[in-house]
Amino acid sequence: MFSASEIKALKGKRKIVALTAYDFLMAKLLDEEGVDIILVGDSLGMVVYGEKDTKGVSIDDMIRHTGAVMNGVSKALIVADLPYGCGFDEARLIRDELGISCVKVEGQPDLVKALCADSFDVMGHAGLKPQQATEFRVQKEFADEAYAIEQAGAFSIVLECVPAEMAADVTSRLNIPTIGIGAGAGCDGQILVLPDMLGMNKGFKPKFLREYANLDSACRQAVKLYKEDVISGNFPSHNESY
Ligand code: KIV
Repeated sequence: MFSASEIKALKGKRKIVALTAYDFLMAKLLDEEGVDIILVGDSLGMVVYGEKDTKGVSIDDMIRHTGAVMNGVSKALIVADLPYGCGFDEARLIRDELGISCVKVEGQPDLVKALCADSFDVMGHAGLKPQQATEFRVQKEFADEAYAIEQAGAFSIVLECVPAEMAADVTSRLNIPTIGIGAGAGCDGQILVLPDMLGMNKGFKPKFLREYANLDSACRQAVKLYKEDVISGNFPSHNESY
């Protein structure tokens, strides 16, 4: 399994590939395809639970889904997002329950520092911070916080929804890898929310999103065929019966 320091050492050598996952089967697939980092993001609240933002995700939700992801992964670094309103005690709960010590924290350099002092591996997050943001807007005031998060001991940092040129400049000044989402090609790596990049989340199409598949249409087609076959009696066949 990749360690946080191995991920950090990739800076300047090759781009880092990161995606989110929330369940066993998808995590297994990403791991087998060589994704470096699997983030159990609190985007869970929106793409799995259908909520309007990330704020309803609890520490119990995060532990349950991170456990499911862990069951499918043998190589990638797994990062558990620290949900809204959670701090040091909840990070410890993740470590005690699951035995992993890699968490992502939005902003909060002081919390990053306290966690690093307690031997956590912390991925920072600057720019658009969904736990605090009231609207979806490109952020220009993120550089100082990114430097403070590095100083606090983070091993990498997500830069979300920031101008590409500024992200490239901050990336060149930091010693830790930047993982961009809506932050341009100058970052050390990229992350996308898995259902978004698979084309399953049809209502959501920000400028930065590239859809690599159209699972919405593939799933609809499969369900349509299944429905036709059940109604016509074509499924199950003799060979599909005991
Ligand atoms: O929760 C999440 O999925 C994230 C990514 C967008 C980086 O924080």
